[in-house]
Amino acid sequence: MPVSGLEVRADTLVVIWTDNTSTPFPTIWLRDNCPSGLHPQTHERLLDLLTLDASPHLLSAECVGDQVKLIYRDGHVSLMPLMLLSAHHPGRPAPDPAKVSAELWRADLTPGGIPRFEAARVLADDGVLRQWLLQTARYGLSIVDGLDDRHGAGIEVAERVGFLRETNFGTTFEVISMPDPNNLAYTSVALPLHTDLPNQEMPPGYQFLHCIANEAAGGGSVFADGFALAQDLREEDPAAFKLLAEVPIPFRFHDDTADILVRAPVIALDSWSELIEIRYNAHIAAIFDMPAEVMPDYYRAYRTYMAKTRDPGYRLEFKLGPGEMVVFDNRRILHGREAFDPSTGFRHLHGCYVDRGEFASRLRLLARAAA
Ligand code: OGA
Ligand code: ZN
Repeated sequence: MPVSGLEVRADTLVVIWTDNTSTPFPTIWLRDNCPSGLHPQTHERLLDLLTLDASPHLLSAECVGDQVKLIYRDGHVSLMPLMLLSAHHPGRPAPDPAKVSAELWRADLTPGGIPRFEAARVLADDGVLRQWLLQTARYGLSIVDGLDDRHGAGIEVAERVGFLRETNFGTTFEVISMPDPNNLAYTSVALPLHTDLPNQEMPPGYQFLHCIANEAAGGGSVFADGFALAQDLREEDPAAFKLLAEVPIPFRFHDDTADILVRAPVIALDSWSELIEIRYNAHIAAIFDMPAEVMPDYYRAYRTYMAKTRDPGYRLEFKLGPGEMVVFDNRRILHGREAFDPSTGFRHLHGCYVDRGEFASRLRLLARAAA
């Protein structure tokens, strides 16, 4: 944005833009972000902030082409690109192509309305990859179809997004009814709506479940938007919402080789009080240990959220078929399945996770390439 004026104060530069708005840039910030303080190749900061005066003093500023020349009292001269200033207004974080607003859904999302993308196109075309990621971030859920009928075909699509997240269940996992299971998922029983691995310090981000076979009677999938449940609870019962957002509860998985425990609230909010994460998994929630006087109210709040997971007004149900892969934000979307009867046929899903950070990185790289 072109500049119509510069106003110099010792501790602040005020940039007046041609639309008559103005932005104050504190002098300490200008000094901290002087391009001369960056490594020329890595663009990382070499400048040691503590070598600067605590209150650097700005003497003058003038526009020189598409830069602003700043002279400080200690003799330092900066050439600040105008682009840098116009992209970084204090108090207004720079636009992020990976930031996608969540569109909350309830029973209004039908199986036919789930964003659906063809595996071959996602693999071959960066534009399609980007659209798939954007839609997946928006609804928290999508389906990739037309996958090759082979073990690993879903993983290859997940690897288009980024590094796989390894957990105590491996880098990838087989959801199959097995003898001697260490996890309810590896049985044929129903799995009530849940998020995976809330017992991890940072639960895995996006989950990929590639359906290789789903021939048994039963075994349908169910999903719900954990943010929509929380948002409605926030409006209907603010006291319950507050308890779920503030009181940490223990989540624990333990078997012969792992014992992974964390205390965290069911609902996590960011610094702007926006929903950022749901950890809800009644089968691995451990023994509640909040003070006794909090327990009755906490149980009431927890049961209210739980009751919403059973409410058809939030549930999306369909049965995955071979060649389909469901992809969802495991820190937002609750997933589950109905019981199945292994004597009637084979059921096999192949799963993996890619964390939110990798997903966001891919979106930024794709946006950069598309610009
Ligand atoms: C899981 C899970 C769902 C299914 O493996 O965590 O929830 O459909 N599986 O089997
Ligand atoms: Zn699960």
